[in-house]
Amino acid sequence: MILPIYIYGHPVLRKVAQDIDAANYPNLKELIDNMFETMYRADGVGLAGPQVGLEERIFVVDLSPMASEEYPEFRDFKKVFINAHITERSGEQELVEEGCLSIPGIHEKVPREGEVRISYLDENLQSHQERYTGFMARVIQHEYDHLDGILFTDHISPLRKRMVKSKLIHMEKGKVSCDYKIRTAR
Ligand code: NI
Repeated sequence: MILPIYIYGHPVLRKVAQDIDAANYPNLKELIDNMFETMYRADGVGLAGPQVGLEERIFVVDLSPMASEEYPEFRDFKKVFINAHITERSGEQELVEEGCLSIPGIHEKVPREGEVRISYLDENLQSHQERYTGFMARVIQHEYDHLDGILFTDHISPLRKRMVKSKLIHMEKGKVSCDYKIRTAR
């Protein structure tokens, strides 16, 4: 089932999401399926719980559409992160353009650390501690930020913030159009 994606200005995007009791969470598999389906429909590579109105610490990522000869490691990168916690960030900061399904039409360069360590449960409730670098570390940090109520526009330079301010105000007022199902604050 395709879920509506909550748009900038909706208060759920600013809440700090909570860990879930994964073993007893009702319809967890269905939620995961719905999140992937919603993400694919919107041509995204990542989607976090708050973006579908949930205050739960879960996000999904699938980089396989971006796999290439240069990035063969993306081919199998379809993952579910439940109760995710980044335990370490390191490496040099890199500035790379990002977008977000909750902030349609805005793409800005965002500084992120080059390496993260993250602990999480997968869809089978197996626990993992993994290290990611480069673009994978970036996508994980972007989705992880959603769990803490942080959006990529929070990280952009003061000048760029001024440049996108009016677009963001429009979104807060519900003046936004995109070709996937959305829910605005008003
Ligand atoms: Ni996002």
